Amino acid sequence: MEKKLKIAKRRSRIHGSGVVATAPIRKGEHIVEYKGKLITHDEADAGYHGELNTGHTFLFTLNDDWIINANVGGNIAKWINCSCDPNAVAFVHEHPSKDSKRDQVIIEALRAIKPGEEITYDYGFEFDVPYTPELLEAWACRCGSPKCKGTMLTLKKEDKKKAKKEDKKGLKDKKKEKKEKKDRKKNKKDRKKNKKGKK
Ligand SMILES: C[S@@+](CC[C@H](N)C(=O)[O-])C[C@H]1O[C@@H](n2cnc3c(N)ncnc32)[C@H](O)[C@@H]1O
Ligand SMILES: [Zn+2]
Repeated sequence: MEKKLKIAKRRSRIHGSGVVATAPIRKGEHIVEYKGKLITHDEADAGYHGELNTGHTFLFTLNDDWIINANVGGNIAKWINCSCDPNAVAFVHEHPSKDSKRDQVIIEALRAIKPGEEITYDYGFEFDVPYTPELLEAWACRCGSPKCKGTMLTLKKEDKKKAKKEDKKGLKDKKKEKKEKKDRKKNKKDRKKNKKGKK
């Protein structure tokens, strides 16, 4: 007999529908398996390309061969939202037979979860396309955590570098602005002093 799930689908503060705990869940406990129809990566690329632009997906990469499409035969796990400070994690369990079709995604608790808490995990999406501002906007994260990275995507090395460079540039610009403001203030003071001196 299958174990009774300790979760239910509810409206979410993060996005649309989400999943909350209905009973205490222990750290490390298996919460639910992510189910759906298995499709190949090529099928996913061909049939669900639009999702890249909308940022809304029920697909989960199982392994190099398969993607779980929860649009077909999906269970409650498909409603679990993403967070940058998650209380759960999605693990791929490789089947001992090494048959990649039999691998499973199990959502496990990262810590003790109280009834009423929304279940979340970090999607960690990574796409093989340039991360344009439009793409980043479509995949913006609204988890609300103080630790929010602002995106549901895992930044690639070059994008991390770019972000760091932009941060540095921002800091330089701010310093420059501060110095210019200070100089303007000083000039104003000097002009006032000169005026007084002429009287
Ligand atoms: C597997 S579904 C989760 C269920 C979804 N809330 C719904 O009602 O359809 C994944 C989609 O939910 C949305 N989503 C999940 N977590 C999010 C987050 N932290 N910020 C913004 N959107 C999120 C995104 O559109 C994402 O592609
Ligand atoms: Zn976030």
